[in-house]
Amino acid sequence: MKIALGADHGGVSLKRLVHKHLEEHGHFVLNCGTDGDEAVDYPDFARKVAETVANREADRGIMICGSGVGATIACNKVPGARAGLCHDTFSAHQGVEDDDMNVICLGARIIGTNLAFEILGSFLGAKFSEADRHVRRKQKVLDLEAHYSR
Ligand code: RB5
Repeated sequence: MKIALGADHGGVSLKRLVHKHLEEHGHFVLNCGTDGDEAVDYPDFARKVAETVANREADRGIMICGSGVGATIACNKVPGARAGLCHDTFSAHQGVEDDDMNVICLGARIIGTNLAFEILGSFLGAKFSEADRHVRRKQKVLDLEAHYSR
């Protein structure tokens, strides 16, 4: 899978480990930065991850900040991005199956590396169910986005 991966300074250490882990599992990683430890602004990197996914240059996105909250808010401002903050494996796969989540956000100050890897495994292994009720609900979300994008 082609994956856009980004972080701010709060998430960069976990991002380095995730990058290696994803490549070891056969994924192609599009690095959206940041790469250094100096303080940066999470919206800059969330934007890059979300736009890369929304433009279909990547299949999925992963954005890591300190709590994951700012990253989630910022990613969801990009039309076409459907980002969720997931710190458990159930939400990580159900968010894809039911809601067609295409970007996952993680808080590096909240979860450890092994849990992050398990969450990402659930996220990347899941597919949108295409069930009628979920397609209908997703369409309502897209309608909401279109309405306020005018
Ligand atoms: C940066 O200090 C921190 O605010 C950021 O990583 C994130 O937690 C925001 O939600």
